[in-house]
Amino acid sequence: MKRTDGPHSSDGTSEEHLSSAEAHEVERVQELLDTRFMADLGPVKKGWGRRQFLNISTIAVSFAGINMFIWPFVESMNPAADVEAMASTDVDVSPIEPGQSVTVVWRGKPVFIRHRTEEEIVAARQGDEDELPDPVLDSERVEKPEWLVLIGICTHLGCVPRGQRSTDPRGDYGGWFCSCHGAQYDTSGRIRTGPAPKNLEIPPYSFVADDLIRIG
Ligand code: FES
Repeated sequence: MKRTDGPHSSDGTSEEHLSSAEAHEVERVQELLDTRFMADLGPVKKGWGRRQFLNISTIAVSFAGINMFIWPFVESMNPAADVEAMASTDVDVSPIEPGQSVTVVWRGKPVFIRHRTEEEIVAARQGDEDELPDPVLDSERVEKPEWLVLIGICTHLGCVPRGQRSTDPRGDYGGWFCSCHGAQYDTSGRIRTGPAPKNLEIPPYSFVADDLIRIG
């Protein structure tokens, strides 16, 4: 049955199916909404009925639920502190003499750091003129000419090439030699012969001090 003792909407019609107590409560809530929240909703006016209030309440509760659900999800997507620590690796290169190399592990991968001699830099720059399988200038592969930083994984099938130790075979180009299938890399880490299709990859890195490299 349609009641007529409820509150009136702004267009003068009666609210449906509301007792006096309900109508009073709706008016009270409407006042609250009007004064606290409605300014942000622009054209929304006083006189909304219970349905609108319930809709807003449902939306608000839904957002609260979604928020409670999303927050732990987003939190779980943030890297843990130990993962963040693994994301970058700082290497003090001051003890590495020209002609020496070190291998560090970054994100589970071997990273070759070679302190190139003057001769190795000259050889790499001369290699710029050659016909390269994966052409790139040596200057585009280094931050500083004397320091070469490479991911030490052969781009053929993923072996770790030899050449880090002075006693290792380094191939015809003086860089690294992959004994798995014979790929040879030059002193810029560029592929010169063999089945590997790409140069040794350069990881993201920067010098955070004169003798400190941050990888990652
Ligand atoms: S994995 Fe290096 S040449 Fe095949």
